[in-house]
Amino acid sequence: MSRIAYVNGQYVPHQEAAVHIEDRGYQFADGVYEVIPIVANKLIGEEGHLDRLWRSLDELQIDAPMKRKPLQLVMRELLRQNGIETGLIYLQVTRGVAPRDHPFPKDAVPSLVMTAKRTSLAKAEAKAEEGVAVITVPDIRWARRDIKSVSLLPNVLAKQKAVEEGAYEAFQVDDDGFITEGSSTNAWIVLQDGTLVTRPASNDILSGITRADLLKLLENKDFKVELRPFSVDELLNAREVFLTSSSSYVQPVVQVDGKSIGNGKPGSISNELRAVFKDYMNN
Ligand code: PDD
Repeated sequence: MSRIAYVNGQYVPHQEAAVHIEDRGYQFADGVYEVIPIVANKLIGEEGHLDRLWRSLDELQIDAPMKRKPLQLVMRELLRQNGIETGLIYLQVTRGVAPRDHPFPKDAVPSLVMTAKRTSLAKAEAKAEEGVAVITVPDIRWARRDIKSVSLLPNVLAKQKAVEEGAYEAFQVDDDGFITEGSSTNAWIVLQDGTLVTRPASNDILSGITRADLLKLLENKDFKVELRPFSVDELLNAREVFLTSSSSYVQPVVQVDGKSIGNGKPGSISNELRAVFKDYMNN
């Protein structure tokens, strides 16, 4: 089955999918995106992702390219045409095509593109069983990280550094020495007494849908949760560390900046939360 993408109202072969060189996404990173996981034909956290998409669009005063219901139909049709039951949808909206000039163009029509790809739950599971390494890097991003903008250069540089150092992710550190989040994930620690800590939603981080869904699932469980920034020192001395995202789900971290966390194996709480999240995705 050949891959199909969606570009401004049309389903086209993935290899031929293109937008104009004067699309403002291309020239100014003037756009927003979402990555939505699909497990066994279910769009995980769909409403949360769409709420966040609309919020990002509103914050940047970009008109929605279509109403919510038709957008949901397009996502499903794209999955159908690609024969995908488990995978990811990438959805991007930019301010549209206009002669290059910084102010908002008057008549630009927002561009909407979507791609879908298959992913392997077994691969994610294998990674979770092993755990991953992370490094820490300075957070050099702008002050509105709550907007899911396609302007991702600092995130790209952070992830590249992680890859070069043999790590899976880079946790970014603010000027006060506190972790903000990963380059494409949210960061969590488990304190020695079992308390879960993750940074509260604010302009400092992207409010992850996986993070929000996990927090909701935790409301019915016997865990103490603290929503507050945590320091690099707390990270290095945590009982457990894990990260969350639409592509990693709940992923245990077993090494930070070369130092083993706990006994260097995924911790029991991280494993339990991963199982809780898996259960939520499958039901
Ligand atoms: N990244 N923080 C950042 C900076 C992110 O880019 C992401 C998502 C997250 C986790 O959010 P969510 O749980 O909604 O996926 C946190 C996506 C997956 C990406 O850019 O590929």
